[in-house]
Amino acid sequence: MNETELHRIDRTVKQWLRTSREFILSKMQQNLSVSEKSSRKDLVTNVDKENEKLIINKIRTFSPDSQILGEEGFGDQIRQTKGWVWVVDPIDGTMNFVKQRDHFAIMIALYIDGQGVLGYIYDVIGNQLFSGGPDIGVFQNDEPLAAPENVSLRDGLVCLSGPMVMHNYRNFQKVAEASSGLRIYGSAGIEMIHLLKGETVAYVSYLKPWDFGAGKILTETLGLAVTTVDGKPLDMLSSDFVMVATVKAQQDILPIIGSNV
Ligand code: IPD
Ligand code: CA
Ligand code: CA
Ligand code: CA
Repeated sequence: MNETELHRIDRTVKQWLRTSREFILSKMQQNLSVSEKSSRKDLVTNVDKENEKLIINKIRTFSPDSQILGEEGFGDQIRQTKGWVWVVDPIDGTMNFVKQRDHFAIMIALYIDGQGVLGYIYDVIGNQLFSGGPDIGVFQNDEPLAAPENVSLRDGLVCLSGPMVMHNYRNFQKVAEASSGLRIYGSAGIEMIHLLKGETVAYVSYLKPWDFGAGKILTETLGLAVTTVDGKPLDMLSSDFVMVATVKAQQDILPIIGSNV
C-alpha cells in the first residue's frame, strides 16, 4: 500500500476513535447496564456493545469488503485472514470501566493478508492515542515515539495478569520476583502502552485476538518481542498466553518458566 493511502486510512481511523471516545464519555454520565458474560469477573456493558456497533458501522461504510473481528460479536465469523481484517475491542478493561470509570482503552487494528498494518490504542480518560505501524512508526498523539531501551528483567517492571499470579501459572511468581517489581493494570491496552513508553519491560497474559491485535503491531514496530509464552509466533485467530517484552527480558523470562526456545 502506498504512503498516501496509508495516511488516508490513518486519518480516518483517528476520526472514528475521537467520535468513539466522545460517545463513551457521554454514556459514562448515565447509568450503565452491566451483565456477566462467562462469570462475575467477566463483564460487558451497554457501552461496550453500542461502541462496537458504532465502530463497525464506520468500518463497513469505509471498507465494505473487509472482514471484522469484534469482541462483542457484531463483526464477522472469521476463519481465515486473507484480505483486510479489522480487529476491534470497543472497551478494553471493562472491569476497570465499570469499577473505576478509568484505566480502559479503545483498540482497533488493521491486518492485511495476516500482516499488521496499523494499530490504535486509545486511553480514553487520559486522552492519549497510541497509533501507527511498521511503515509509519509509532506516535503518542502527534509525537513520534522512540523505541524503548532493551532493558533486562532485573532492571525493569513486569506486568502480569491477576489470575496468572494468583495461580502461579508456569512459575510466573518467580518472574515477578526476578524483576524490579510487579504491576497489574487490568487492561491489555493500558499495559501495552506502558511497554511502548519504556515504563515496563514485559507483559504476560492470556489474551484473545482483540486484546493483542493493536498492541502487537505497535510493540513490534518499536522492536519489542511478541510471542506466546513458549516463544512461538501468535496466531491471529486464536487465544493464547501472550508475552510482549524487550528482547533481553524475553530471554530472561523463558528459562524461568521452563520454555526452551
Ligand atoms: C480484558 C483485559 C484484561 C485481560 C483480560 C481481557 P476486556 O479485556 O484486557 O486486562 O487480563 O484477559 O479479557 O474483556 O476488558 O476487553
Ligand atoms: Ca470482555
Ligand atoms: Ca480486551
Ligand atoms: Ca473489551
